[in-house]
Amino acid sequence: MEKGQMLYEGKAKQVFETNNPNEVIVRYKDDATAFNAQKKGQVDKKGELNNAISTLIFEYLQEKEIPTHFIKQLDDREQLVKKVNIIPLEMVVRNYSAGSMAQRLGVEEGIKSPVTIFDICYKKDELGDPLINDHHAVFLGAATYDELDEMYELTDVINELLIDLFDKMNIILVDFKIELGKTADGEIVLADEISPDTCRLWDKDTMKKLDKDRFRRDLGEVTEAYEEIYNRLKKVLNK
Ligand code: TMP
Ligand code: ASP
Repeated sequence: MEKGQMLYEGKAKQVFETNNPNEVIVRYKDDATAFNAQKKGQVDKKGELNNAISTLIFEYLQEKEIPTHFIKQLDDREQLVKKVNIIPLEMVVRNYSAGSMAQRLGVEEGIKSPVTIFDICYKKDELGDPLINDHHAVFLGAATYDELDEMYELTDVINELLIDLFDKMNIILVDFKIELGKTADGEIVLADEISPDTCRLWDKDTMKKLDKDRFRRDLGEVTEAYEEIYNRLKKVLNK
């Protein structure tokens, strides 16, 4: 397998073509952005840590029969994945109030929700990834109602599996964002990454934030928090 031209560069990752038209290489960067890239910085070792963390989580989910784009980790910064068309909807799941939902609803952070809350955001940087609803998604042609049903169902199962995994790590999965993609044969699969960049993860005993909020809110010890997640993950998965 050969690494070809860069196809795309995002805020935290680059995507390269390979000599196989159905496979691409994802490279994780140390760059960090927040608030639609109004805040920019670098987090030491973030690329390596997110590559390692996302690899372990995708392998765990694949073992539980979740369809994903993941093929294998190549080195400390790169993964080989199936080429997919990313569905331009960010699937956000919230188990506790936090972040933009706490702000929007005028409630404090950390209230456990009696129901699983699903938000969808339209993936469009120029608009700041606005919160939309199912009808807007269909209007935009991002997905059909049937596809949305399938996407919510998959997202819900992933949430249950992740709650369980993080619980064993003594961590509360407050909320997270995933992206889904369509493979060449039309299958909807989990794509992108799952890491402390895309989840809110709080230590159960101390409630310490072990995720990107440390960068967003200038709380310090960002690399240490990501390392803590990686170490607990390895331990619970016997890796
Ligand atoms: P929010 O509270 O800012 O809407 O974020 C909800 C979850 O989604 C949180 O775990 C962080 C994650 N997220 C991303 O992964 N990427 C993003 O661009 C945003 C806004 C949130
Ligand atoms: N990744 C998003 C951005 O830059 C937002 C975030 O994670 O807070 O801009």
